[in-house]
Amino acid sequence: MKHIAILGFGVVGQGVAALLTNNKEEVKRLVGDELNIKYILDLRDFPDSPFADRVIHDFGIIKDDADVDAVIEVMGGSHPAFEFSMDALKGGKHVITSNKQVVAEFGAEMIAEAKKHGVCYHFEASVGGGIPVLMPIIEILRHNKVREVRGILNGTTNYILTKMFTFGDSFEASLKDAQEKGYAERNPDADILGIDACRKIAILGALISGASINPDLIHTEGITEIRAQDVAVANKNACAIKLLGRAIACEDGKLSLMVAPFLIDADAPLGGVNGVYNAVEVLADPVDNVMFYGRGAGAGPTASAVVGDLCRCFTEGTHTAPVIFEKQSERLADFSAFACRHYGATDLSLSEVKAAFGEVTVLCEGKELAFLTEVMTEKAFAEAEAKLGKKLLSHIRKLA
Ligand code: HSE
Repeated sequence: MKHIAILGFGVVGQGVAALLTNNKEEVKRLVGDELNIKYILDLRDFPDSPFADRVIHDFGIIKDDADVDAVIEVMGGSHPAFEFSMDALKGGKHVITSNKQVVAEFGAEMIAEAKKHGVCYHFEASVGGGIPVLMPIIEILRHNKVREVRGILNGTTNYILTKMFTFGDSFEASLKDAQEKGYAERNPDADILGIDACRKIAILGALISGASINPDLIHTEGITEIRAQDVAVANKNACAIKLLGRAIACEDGKLSLMVAPFLIDADAPLGGVNGVYNAVEVLADPVDNVMFYGRGAGAGPTASAVVGDLCRCFTEGTHTAPVIFEKQSERLADFSAFACRHYGATDLSLSEVKAAFGEVTVLCEGKELAFLTEVMTEKAFAEAEAKLGKKLLSHIRKLA
């Protein structure tokens, strides 16, 4: 029998316990042994839970119990999740996590520590929830030349943008609806400001480059500035607006990383990903475009990825250790050199816009002028906007 400890008994922790109970036979068949939840660590008690007798409040008990083979860290937040995970690895226990914050910030240290002790540090659930996406990138696509990994990495913002797109609602009304439905937290900042997607693209960027990147250095924009008018213009022009995380391999060996809303052709693969769904698209040679799609959050989907990783610890051992190495922020390309077409909305005239931005494609003319520039670098765009003399009412990049 293998003994497991779950750190954190929230939505994901309870999902893991339910999965290990409900799919006990499937798990046993795969692992060749029974998995027993020996401890559940949480600050709270759960007197009505079938797992009430396993709930403890002192991590020291888990750390000191040599019978615990694997620790599932689903607490969220960096601390004490980082310290507990490190202690578990040092004690020769596998660690599995869905905690993207810890993976993005400390993945390199965790993997190094796991290797030192001959155990696994797995984190499939940290990106895309239930979508099996990291393992295929690590294992199956690794020999490809990856040009880009990009994705809709946050279900909350995708729900909000879909609501705005489908019903013409404002950002504020759509956020309120997402909160009422339990998709957005009471404090939604990590989602709507792009912070959650930033951590996820940092992890994907690390996997394709082999160098972990400090998420604080990634250009990150959220969706709070997107107006119903912009969504309507996008809709009329057969486009959707999506919050994308992008990790682009540059010719000089650097990696251009960003999180920002993008205008996407509605018939492009990512253009049709709606509601709370996530999708990750890998552009690589020679495989070409591959897309992974599914539920990026929730108890069941996230538990599926966590338990998948847990089983791998016992069936595959450590040979599949992912490829995040040292922190190498110098590998990050200068965002001002990133080039794409830009959408702008303004109450100035077309001739004023052309004088600043050069040739543009008009998307909508009325009270406001909405336009698309030719391909311009961020630097050139900023200079053109300064020349316009008035800040645009909206600025959204266009996915080529
Ligand atoms: N808040 C996240 C989302 C949860 O909306 O996608 C999963 O990481």
